[in-house]
Amino acid sequence: MAKSTTKKKHSKRSDSIESTLGEKRLFKPSKAFSEKARISSMAQYEKLYRASIKDPEKFFAKQAEELHWFKKWRKVLETKNPRLSKAGAGGGSFAFTQWFTGGEINACYNCIDRHLSSPRKNKAAIIWEGENFEQRTLTYSQLHREVSKAANVLKSLGVKTGDRVAIYMGMTPELAIAVLACARIGATHTVIFGGFSAEAIRDRVNDCDAKLIITADGAFRRGTIIDLKKNVDNAVTSGCPSVEKVLVLKRTANAVVMIAGRDVWWHEAMAEASANCPATPLDSEHPLYILYTSGTTGKPKGIVHTTAGYLLGTYLTMKYIFDIRDEDVFWCSADVGWVTGHSYVLYGPLANGATIVMYEGAPTYPAPDRFWDIIERHGATIFYTAPTAIRAFIRAGDEHSNKHDMSSLRLLGSVGEPINPEAWMWYHRVIGKGRCPIVDTWWQTETGAIMISPIPGAVPTIPGSATLPFFGVEPEVVRKDGTKCNPDEGGYLIIKKPWPSMLRGIYKDPERFQKQYFTEYPGLYFTGDGARQDKNGYFWIMGRVDDVINVSGHRLGTMEVESALVGHESVAEAAVVGRPDEIKGSALVAFVTLKKGWPADESLKEKLRNHVAEMIGSIAKPDDIRFSDALPKTRSGKIMRRLLRELASTGSVAGDTTTLEDFSVLEQLRAGEEE
Ligand code: WTA
Repeated sequence: MAKSTTKKKHSKRSDSIESTLGEKRLFKPSKAFSEKARISSMAQYEKLYRASIKDPEKFFAKQAEELHWFKKWRKVLETKNPRLSKAGAGGGSFAFTQWFTGGEINACYNCIDRHLSSPRKNKAAIIWEGENFEQRTLTYSQLHREVSKAANVLKSLGVKTGDRVAIYMGMTPELAIAVLACARIGATHTVIFGGFSAEAIRDRVNDCDAKLIITADGAFRRGTIIDLKKNVDNAVTSGCPSVEKVLVLKRTANAVVMIAGRDVWWHEAMAEASANCPATPLDSEHPLYILYTSGTTGKPKGIVHTTAGYLLGTYLTMKYIFDIRDEDVFWCSADVGWVTGHSYVLYGPLANGATIVMYEGAPTYPAPDRFWDIIERHGATIFYTAPTAIRAFIRAGDEHSNKHDMSSLRLLGSVGEPINPEAWMWYHRVIGKGRCPIVDTWWQTETGAIMISPIPGAVPTIPGSATLPFFGVEPEVVRKDGTKCNPDEGGYLIIKKPWPSMLRGIYKDPERFQKQYFTEYPGLYFTGDGARQDKNGYFWIMGRVDDVINVSGHRLGTMEVESALVGHESVAEAAVVGRPDEIKGSALVAFVTLKKGWPADESLKEKLRNHVAEMIGSIAKPDDIRFSDALPKTRSGKIMRRLLRELASTGSVAGDTTTLEDFSVLEQLRAGEEE
């Protein structure tokens, strides 16, 4: 895509945006940025977007040629609906679409080997910083060596192409090496966030029958050590029959128990491993990873991503939305335990041969300026973080960032939840010094890569809007009956056409997959988000409309927390709702009915909070627990979460209560609120 050097082209839309909004709220890409950008005008973006929608096969075939293939694909995209027993055959839906069928490719090869025949060979791939300020840099050729060795270690532990490997580690280079080593031999990885509990590890490992768990003796976080190995031990002892081996990185010198015959030290295995391990050619649709994410039931879903389409999606979004260059130092502050870390710490940037910063620890450790210090010292040019972090930084005060020279920055990104305009403006002014475009990127674990976002050199931004769709993405805002909403009318966000990095399913559960995403609006992908589209076509994401809550940018299912709560001996019934929170975006409020004889006191609240932490992880701890004798229900027995949400956020209920079965319940809950 050649840089436009001709005179500036105008599109009707950019004229319209300017005339409707005026200069005040509109942030046009600066000339300096646009001139150097890959896509430098709205007209150029629109032209490419139209081409991608009109003929996706042609468009993506051309893009896919930039990747390395062992064997070229036969067909760019094919939709094949299997016969499903329960949810129907999914007629007309694109749920079961495959990309680049017949092709053979390897994600690890594309992220590493492909760069070795270019000057990128000795370029930094990973600049890593430990929480205790240790530093390590791995060039592409060093990374190649380490990953090849680790892939041989996996093989020596019995891991074969198609096996599942669980990875439960802190943010160390070895986490990246472990992930890439799996990809190299076609073992499907499932990274489990280091904040999850033993129970959560067990559920995930058992769901996907992982043969091997890769972990560490501990992880540094906020100056303390998280005992990862102990959690793995507890998970495996409580019943993970598929696990044969546990590979343990020594990171903290924390005392751990090594179980003979099962546990292997990473450094010992690596010392013996050969650095020769060619990447395995894999089918385009070979499952690259499974990532568990919260949904609307008590059980997390194993979202499956396959190789070619996912790689292309992350590669292209990285290239055009982050406008990545060889000179860039890209820092995405997400943990690799979440999808953002998969796509924009590892696969997207490395597939582009970029230099990434990887940081192990907490954002405010040992002082509130840690992130800004990292940006200054490593000369980060692009910074990608979450609104919840931005709001925490605002609260900490501008002095922390002001004392650092962050003039290296040229582009900023946001992800995870709607960014409120105040946070956007602060990010723009205090961090970007008014100079850096902000890409507010909307996407999901399921979408694999960014779906709606400004293209920074082309699309004028408005604080709070994720703006326009990426190439090949056709979103729409619809009413309950599936008809298209009018401009500015709020509705449900759906996607109308398949895209390369779309999820290929919920692991081992095609019925649930079909039902969850493709039945609400038959044939179309339902995101679970509410949104509106303004008259210039800009999207404004309003957040989840289902029982999923974004807490500090992390997805939690209310049902998951509820089932953890009712798992405690004292709890008869529980309902969990979100309440707006200044820093976290949403906070969790649990309404709990106790079994007879249990005291509704503070100490029980604390016990329940800890119980949830044990069952899921401390990110799921309710911020607030309220006891009551009963929960508001409809006559048919459904808990009226809407009323609870209203009560949790405003302290009263003004909405429609006509379907409520027992009004005294509300009175009681309100009284509880006033206590
Ligand atoms: C929310 C994270 C508004 C949304 C990549 C989505 C956003 C959920 C944005 C997915 C954004 C993510 N603006 N909301 N820019 N980005 N979301 O699976 O509700 O952890 O459905 O993926 O986060 O969360 P997930």
